[in-house]
Amino acid sequence: MSLLQWDENLSVGVEQFDHEHRKLIAIMNELFDAIQTGHAELVLGPILVRLVDYTMTHFSNEEQAMREAGYEGLAEHKALHDELIRRVAEVQRHYREGAASAVSTELMDFLKNWLIGHIQIEDKQYAPVLARETADV
Ligand SMILES: [Fe+2]
Ligand SMILES: [Fe+2]
Repeated sequence: MSLLQWDENLSVGVEQFDHEHRKLIAIMNELFDAIQTGHAELVLGPILVRLVDYTMTHFSNEEQAMREAGYEGLAEHKALHDELIRRVAEVQRHYREGAASAVSTELMDFLKNWLIGHIQIEDKQYAPVLARETADV
């Protein structure tokens, strides 16, 4: 069973970011599967590394695009990104310290709700500005 599925309702109207959101969702699903099937101990570390890395890459790509487009909500949006990175990095630290239980289904629920909520509310707000910008080039 997959945790999340990307569909058109999650589209932010910018192809690059739709693609990146799909990839983020795919990594989260891998993590979820690992927890569900009890293989977490073996594969969690590398998946967490990829999740943290890719989240940072995606956030920095979005922030750069917002900056280039002169998007007004950048500072506020970036603060939300920073907060999520802090939380995911914290989970990773707990995991490294041996608390594999830090990575639980509750955590996945939190990540899932955060990601979907963030795409549907905050990311969609930049859609008109950034879509216009990409169309101009
Ligand atoms: Fe995003
Ligand atoms: Fe975002």
